[in-house]
Amino acid sequence: MEQPIKKSIFYRDKHRPQFHYSPPENWMNDPNGMVYFEGEYHLFYQYYPEKTVWGPMHWGHAVSKDLIHWENLPIALYPDDLGHIFSGSAVVDWSNTSGLGKDGQPPLIAIFTHHEMELEKVGTNNHQYQSIAFSHDNGRSLIKYSGNPVLPNLNNIKDFRDPKVIWDKIRKHWLMVLATTDHSKFYSSKNLIDWTHLSNWGSPYGEHNGVWECPDLFPMRVEETGEEKWVLLQSINPGGLNGGSATQYFVGDFDGEKFILDEKFEKEVTNGHAIWIDYGRDNYAGVTWSDIPDEDGRRIFIGWMSNWDYSQTVPTERWRNAMTIPRRLALAQVNGKYRVISHPVKELEKLRGKFIDIESQIVSNNSILIEKKQLNVSQAEVILTIDLEGTSSTVFGIELSNGKGAVYQFGYEIANQQFFSDRSRSFSEVFSDKFSVKPALAPRFSTDQELLLHCFIDASSIEIFIDNGSVVMTETFFPNEDFNQLSLFCNDGQVQLVSGIAYELSSIW
Ligand code: FRU
Repeated sequence: MEQPIKKSIFYRDKHRPQFHYSPPENWMNDPNGMVYFEGEYHLFYQYYPEKTVWGPMHWGHAVSKDLIHWENLPIALYPDDLGHIFSGSAVVDWSNTSGLGKDGQPPLIAIFTHHEMELEKVGTNNHQYQSIAFSHDNGRSLIKYSGNPVLPNLNNIKDFRDPKVIWDKIRKHWLMVLATTDHSKFYSSKNLIDWTHLSNWGSPYGEHNGVWECPDLFPMRVEETGEEKWVLLQSINPGGLNGGSATQYFVGDFDGEKFILDEKFEKEVTNGHAIWIDYGRDNYAGVTWSDIPDEDGRRIFIGWMSNWDYSQTVPTERWRNAMTIPRRLALAQVNGKYRVISHPVKELEKLRGKFIDIESQIVSNNSILIEKKQLNVSQAEVILTIDLEGTSSTVFGIELSNGKGAVYQFGYEIANQQFFSDRSRSFSEVFSDKFSVKPALAPRFSTDQELLLHCFIDASSIEIFIDNGSVVMTETFFPNEDFNQLSLFCNDGQVQLVSGIAYELSSIW
C-alpha cells in the first residue's frame, strides 16, 4: 500500500493556509464522506492527484482526532469502469443493514456518484448514478460493492448526483437526498443497496440560476423554543448571490417522505430570493458530518473554500484550494426569522498562542489595531465589538494591508445595513476576470446595537462570523506578500470600538 504522505515542507508554500485543511499537493474540491467513527473524523474530498486543475475525480482522504490536526492518508477511491468518483457521503452502518459488515463489526459505507465520461460525450444524459463502497478497517480501504450502481439513472437525468445519506431514527431506514438540476430528490432504503424514490422538492423556491449540487438534510432544535425543524442545504453553481458558486439553505419539516418548507421561511425564498449559509464567495459544497456521537450532539459543517468561477486559476503552485474551518451549525430565531447560525468549532481555541488586547477606543479616520511586530495577523483570530450607537461613520470596517500595496477591506454600510468584502486590491496578478468584479455583499439580520466581528485570517483567506454567526462571509485573497497589519477604518465621523482581542494561531502542519 502507498505510504501516508508526509510532506510538511509543502505546507510552507506561498499562500498556503496554516490552520485549514489542504492536501499536500494538487487539486481539491468538495468535502466528501464526512463521518465520525472510533475516535476519528474522516474527511474525504474530491481530488485530482496529477494536476492543480480539476480532472478525473478520486476521493482523497484525511483523518483527525480533534477536527483541527489532520493526517493525510492514501487515496481512498480511484476511478473505475463505471466512471470517475464524484461527491457523496459516508455513514456507519451500525446494525449491518447492508450485510456488508464483517466479524460482527459495523462497516463504514461510502455512497457516491459515479460519473462516466464516455457516456457523457454520447449525450444520453445517463452518465451519473449512485454507487457504494464499504470498509472494514476504519476507512483505510474502501471496497467497491460488486452490485454497483445501487441507484441507476433510469430517467436519464443529466445532473443526478452528490448523495447525502442519513439514518431516519423514526422510520428506521436510510434517507438519501440527491441533487438533480433544479430540485432535490429524496429516497429511502432498508439496506443502503435498494432505494425507493419518495419525493422531489425545489423549484421554484430559492435560487435557480445554476445547477443544484451537494445537498444535505438534517433535523435541528430551534435554540429558543426547542422545537424540531429540518434544514436542507443546497449548493448551486453558478447563481450564488455574489457570483459563481454558493450554498443556500431552507428551513422546514420532513414528514418521512417529503420536505415541507416552513411558512414563514417561504416568503424569504420566493421570487428568486435565497438565504445563504455564507455570503462570501468562498464556501461551496459544504455539508455536515455523519455519526457525531449523541454525547457531543453537534452538527459540524465544513465547506470547500473556493468558487468555480476562478478556483482553477488561483495563483497557487503545487497545491490548489483548502477547506473552510469546521463550523458548528445551530438553528435560531434572529428577529423572529429562522436562521442557521455558524460558530467556529471550540477546538480551534487550542491553536491560540500569543495574544493582544485591543484597547477600547473611538476611531476617526484610520487606526492601526495590530502591527507587524505585535503578532502575525495573517495567521490569526481577531474578535472586535463595535457599539453602533456610538458610531457615526456611514461606512467603516477592517482593513488588512502589507505596506507593499496589497489591501483587503471588510466593511459595514450603516444606511442600508449591508456588509461588503472588497478584495479588488488584494492580489498582485490577474488570474481571473471574475475574482473581483465588485465587492461581495451581505445583509445584516441582527438589529443589536453591538456589532460583533469574529475573524479568522489564514494567509489567503478570511472568515468573518458576524453577529455571533447569523451571517458569515468567507473570502480568499492572494496578496503579493502576506498581510501584516490590521486597521479599523472609517470614511467619516467616528467608530466606537468597545473591545477587541487578537490571537496568533499556531500552524497545524
Ligand atoms: C460540486 C461538484 C459536484 C460534483 C463534483 C465533481 O462542486 O460539481 O456536483 O460531484 O463537484 O468534482
